[in-house]
Amino acid sequence: MKKIILAYSGGLDTSICVKWLTEKGYDVIAVLADLGQKANFELLKKRAISAGAKKVYISDLKKEFIEDFILPTLKVEGVYEDYLLATALGRPLIAKEIVKIAHQEKASYVAHGCTGKGNDQVRFELSWKILDPCLEVIAPLREWKFKTREEEIEYAKKNGIALDFKKSVYSIDENLWGVSIECGDLEDPWNEPSANVWQITSLNYALKPAYLEIYFDKGIPVKLNNKKITTQELIIKLNKIGGKYAVGRKDLIEDRIVGIKSRELYEAPAAEILYKAHHCLETLTLDKQTLDFKHLISLKYGGLIYNGLWFCEFKKALDKFVDSTQEKICGTVRIKLSAGNCEIVGKKSKYSLYKKELATYHRPIGGKDSKPDCCQASFDQKAAEGFIKILGTPYEKSNIKNQISKI
Ligand code: ARG
Repeated sequence: MKKIILAYSGGLDTSICVKWLTEKGYDVIAVLADLGQKANFELLKKRAISAGAKKVYISDLKKEFIEDFILPTLKVEGVYEDYLLATALGRPLIAKEIVKIAHQEKASYVAHGCTGKGNDQVRFELSWKILDPCLEVIAPLREWKFKTREEEIEYAKKNGIALDFKKSVYSIDENLWGVSIECGDLEDPWNEPSANVWQITSLNYALKPAYLEIYFDKGIPVKLNNKKITTQELIIKLNKIGGKYAVGRKDLIEDRIVGIKSRELYEAPAAEILYKAHHCLETLTLDKQTLDFKHLISLKYGGLIYNGLWFCEFKKALDKFVDSTQEKICGTVRIKLSAGNCEIVGKKSKYSLYKKELATYHRPIGGKDSKPDCCQASFDQKAAEGFIKILGTPYEKSNIKNQISKI
């Protein structure tokens, strides 16, 4: 028998994949990846067995997800069209785990339960191509004949697959870094999401604002309110508290890799808070050139993740550059949460490039009455005259030709 390793989520589609692949003559080994989503893994394992899986792995990938995927992306502040990439970031890690198990099990086939219209098929398959191009990919959803969810349910029932999950009209993907929600009435962009669509956030205008302080060391958040905390605990806490203020909610129209526009809701309270906090600290400690360039990298890197190129060499090179910019991203950020809002209301760092004595307008520097002090030494206001003169030279010249421009 041909062994196949299936990325199994436990939902209707992948449960049917197990049975369908079995009927096609494969020995199915299902892999359940724990990326911090709410799930009863033992129950899902039973479901996979009931669908015909020969073996089920439950892989706890949370630590790797945080250290090798979430934190590097936070340092880059990777983003795609305003989406903070939770689902997109999880896929390459699941793909990597599938390859690991395929090698362990000496399997030559791998499978996913993604639709032919979506992004995730691309992410799985490009990752597999990079990690082991010899693996053969089977994508049942691009091949089988089921057209509706009802047809799938009927097939599941006929084949004794334990389908005790509640029927949801939405397609929901969740991990530690965020939740993605699509389908159902959301497919009409005119429809406002009903309050019960949201999974981990709620909006309560009566709630009093809350303050948090996060300390970063070399670009990594390591303390909450002055207490050391693991990244995992921090993310869980921020999702909880940020979720109460509906922080990190987004309702986006995005451009899928396959050229289709789609509407998706996102909830990522922890990611939203940490991105904002991290960025604020960077504005305080990085010079303008690095900040400008990092902004370009954030878009480029976000695009790589979205487009399924997590494992490409270029991404590794970007990581090295970004790491080299994080040495001085150390300091504390004070955050105020209020209904639907996350504001940075305070920031400090021992590496701050902000100098109050330079920035202030209050002291008459360089005037007749001012005493010589460090401010005068570091910023000569009189020199600004020459600075502007030279800066304006090209514009002055063009104005001579056209006489005085019309105002
Ligand atoms: N649009 C997001 C992405 O491409 C999420 C896709 C999965 N969404 C879902 N609700 N199952 O990363």
